[in-house]
Amino acid sequence: MKPKVLVTREVFDDVLEYLRGYFDVTSNQADAPFDPGELARRLADQDGAVTVLTDRIDAALLSRCPRLRAVCNIAVGYNNFDLKALSARGVMATNTPGVLDDATADFTWSLILATARRLTEAEAWLRAGEWRGWKLKQFLGVDVHHATLGIVGLGRIGQAVARRARGFDMNVLYHNRTPLAPEVERACNATYAGLDELLSRADIVTLHVPYGPASHHLIDGARLARMKPTAILINAARGGVVDDAALIAALKEGRVAAAGLDVFEGEPALNPEFLALENVVLAPHIASATTGTRRNMAMPAAKNLVAALSGERPPNLLNPEVIK
Ligand code: GLV
Repeated sequence: MKPKVLVTREVFDDVLEYLRGYFDVTSNQADAPFDPGELARRLADQDGAVTVLTDRIDAALLSRCPRLRAVCNIAVGYNNFDLKALSARGVMATNTPGVLDDATADFTWSLILATARRLTEAEAWLRAGEWRGWKLKQFLGVDVHHATLGIVGLGRIGQAVARRARGFDMNVLYHNRTPLAPEVERACNATYAGLDELLSRADIVTLHVPYGPASHHLIDGARLARMKPTAILINAARGGVVDDAALIAALKEGRVAAAGLDVFEGEPALNPEFLALENVVLAPHIASATTGTRRNMAMPAAKNLVAALSGERPPNLLNPEVIK
């Protein structure tokens, strides 16, 4: 008998075909998200799952899913997994690192440019029929070229963002918990700075850290207060890294000039006050959403699951202690 696996959300047909070669597959091509109770019920008799970042896999769910041996996220982030609980139950967990760095960096640049040059605000105004003629002072933005870019988290995605900054002749600062090797700094043309120093010097601050207890509200009211009133904040990392209520207050009071956001606390139910602000560019968590990249994420997740349930080490295993 083939192992049973659940694919929790819609995926590309060839990914399902591939999985069907190994498993008895239940899919959710209708793409209706399962709430936690429904997810636990559906996983109760499954050996493995291909999951997405909205599927919370924790101790409560695992206690109801005794057969589960592997959960394979279609995402580089895995804050939806309680890794400790997974390891305690001997369940392998995987993610999809590497394959979305460029798409996410490209989208970060979309946010940087759209926010600095007020693109969505200007477009909404034009669509509303407000354009009566050219004016010298219409929709004045700020220069991105030659500005100082502050990258918080110079991992794979942060580095891809830094490499793109070369074309804009920018001065790049970065902050990591530990400074990177000089050759990586050189390749990124980036200089290390403490977080508070970076926040006070950068014209554009962009966040590329994973979400977890250490990064919860990393950018809170006090940190926002360190930023220049002319500065822009970009978050294409995870909701919760920024204290959204504090950001809204800073944007309203002009203590931070503008923000470009792809992720939100409590998404998709983002703080409605964002919608009333003109100095924000908002996107629905789409930084990796190109056809090529989403394909390149979904197939590796499926391959991780095949490896895990075939007794091989999955290429992107997050909790190797499970197989030791
Ligand atoms: C997207 O947010 C991801 O973590 O892949």
